[in-house]
Formats: sequence, C-alpha cells, structure tokens
Amino acid sequence: MDVQGKTALVTGASRGIGRAIAIELARHGVTRLILIARNRQRLEEVASEVELLDCNAIVVPLDLTQPADVSVAIAQVWRNYGPIHLLVNCAGVAHQSPFLQSRLPQVEQEIAVNLIGMYSITRMVARRMVSQREGRIVNVSSLMGKVAAPTMATYSATKFAILGFTQALRSELAPHNVQVTALLPTLTDTDMVKELDWFQGIMPMTPQQVAKTFMRGLRTEAPEILVGWQSHLAAWVNRAAPWLVEKIVYWSAPPPRPAASRLHRRDPHAPVSSSAL
Ligand SMILES: NC(=O)c1ccc[n+]([C@@H]2O[C@H](COP(=O)([O-])OP(=O)(O)OC[C@H]3O[C@@H](n4cnc5c(N)ncnc54)[C@H](OP(=O)(O)O)[C@@H]3O)[C@@H](O)[C@H]2O)c1
Repeated sequence: MDVQGKTALVTGASRGIGRAIAIELARHGVTRLILIARNRQRLEEVASEVELLDCNAIVVPLDLTQPADVSVAIAQVWRNYGPIHLLVNCAGVAHQSPFLQSRLPQVEQEIAVNLIGMYSITRMVARRMVSQREGRIVNVSSLMGKVAAPTMATYSATKFAILGFTQALRSELAPHNVQVTALLPTLTDTDMVKELDWFQGIMPMTPQQVAKTFMRGLRTEAPEILVGWQSHLAAWVNRAAPWLVEKIVYWSAPPPRPAASRLHRRDPHAPVSSSAL
C-alpha cells in the first residue's frame, strides 16, 4: 500500500507503538491522521508533532471499551474527514500475574480493550471501507499471539484471538478489496512493559523500530508482519518444533507467586513471561 495522500486512523496513538506508527505514517506522506486514545492532552502532543510533518491531525479522545461511543465517533469522523483508507488497531492493555492470583477486573479490561474495542471500531470502519471498495486494516497482535507465556494467560489469549480475527476478516473482506493484516511486535520499550518482568535474554525493541517494520510490511501483501529477528526465530522454531518452544517457556517460567513479590525489571532471574509481548 502506498500511503501517500491517504487518510489513516490509528488507535492507541497517544503513546508507545501507536504514537510511533502515527509519526511514521506522517513521514511517509499520509495527508490526514485520525488519532484515537483516551488521553486528549497526549493526543494533542502527537498531533502537534505530525502537523510539523505537513499532515493534518484530528484528535478523537475515545474509550474503546464503550461500543456506543465508538459508533457515534466513527460515524462523525467518517462524515467529516472520511474516507479512511487505513485503520491501525493498536490500542491495547496487558496485565501480568500468575494465573492463580489473577483478578477478574484486569482480565475483563484486557478482553474489553484488546478484543471488544478492536471489534467495535473495526466493524464501523470496515463497513464503510467495503462500500468504497478500498481499504487496509492492520491489527496489532504480538509474538505472544503465537507463543503464549505463563503469567500472561489472558493477554496471550487476546493476542491469539486477534490473529484468528484477522485471518477470518482477511478472507471475508478480500472480495471487497479490503486487505487485513496482523502486526506482531516482540518486547518493545513502552509504558506497557514498565511494570512487567522482563526475560533477561531478550533485547527490547524501540517503538520507532516497530513503526519502521510496520511501514515496510505495509508495502507488501504479507498477511502477518513479524517485528525483529527474535520474532522470526521464535515463530520459525515454534512452527518446526512447537514442543521445544513450550519446553523453553516452561523451564523459564517463574514459580507462581503473589504479584507483590515480583522481581524487578531487568532482574537476572526475571521470568520469560513478558519477553515475547
Ligand atoms: N510493548 C510491547 O512489548 C508490545 C509487544 C507486542 C505487542 N504490543 C501491542 O502493541 C500495542 C501498543 O502497545 P504499547 O506497548 O504501545 O502500549 P502503551 O504504551 O501502553 O500504549 C497503549 C495505548 O493504548 C491506548 N489505550 C489503552 N486503553 C484504551 C482504551 N480503553 N481506549 C482507547 N485507547 C486505549 C493508550 O492510550 P490512553 O491511555 O490515552 O487511552 C495508549 O495509546 C498493544 O496492542 C500491545 O498489546 C506491545
């Protein structure tokens, strides 16, 4: 896809990977960006940055867990600023906890943002893309959508689900000239992972590196965009010898323990759990 002169909508655009993707899209000639997240002030900061790159930015503060608000906002956005050519579903949340200590409100939040939020906005945008017979949708999953990690059970489950959602939509929407792709970052240094345990052997990527890989992937027809060599290696080994990956993850996993006694970030004994976010 050539993004030059196009309109893109990015969710989770206030911080981290979504913010980096928005800026990278502006650098590559997107003429209008619709920036969605809850925090208006942060969105306005991103808008100022992309406007310096000659891109018109529209800030839409929105909680994606509220389907009625999403419907109203997208209808208005499309009417005033459409058509949208590219939707990047990047908003997400992650909680880390041994399963036996997991708490329902956190599980519900992961499902509400990562799945229901993605569903609600995609439904509104995809319908309109189908009517204009043009569009591209990129859903941000994770390497954890391929290799699940202990202490991240629900997060992993949502990221596996996003890959299934993406695969199904790809077939359904292809006849309408709407392409659907998944982006699978590995551990990336953002707010999301600040409170999580890191696996010592993994080199975190920067949001900018993820955004550059996203841009390269956008130029191809690839159904999945893996980010970084660690992801390629893990996905390859997982295909060739899934039992091996499971064993590595199992042996690297921490014993169940209360969240309060978690090891610090970068601790040499930190578990594998967040390594493949
Ligand atoms: N960081 C990693 O290691 C990593 C690895 C693989 C995949 N990913 C995926 O990449 C995506 C971005 O993650 P990140 O690391 O950039 O996280 P982040 O820095 O924590 O950013 C998360 C974004 O989601 C938005 N968001 C959260 N809840 C929302 C809600 N209810 N409604 C609307 N927006 C909401 C946040 O904005 P507000 O708080 O302003 O609403 C923020 O812009 C996620 O889908 C994540 O699963 C991350």
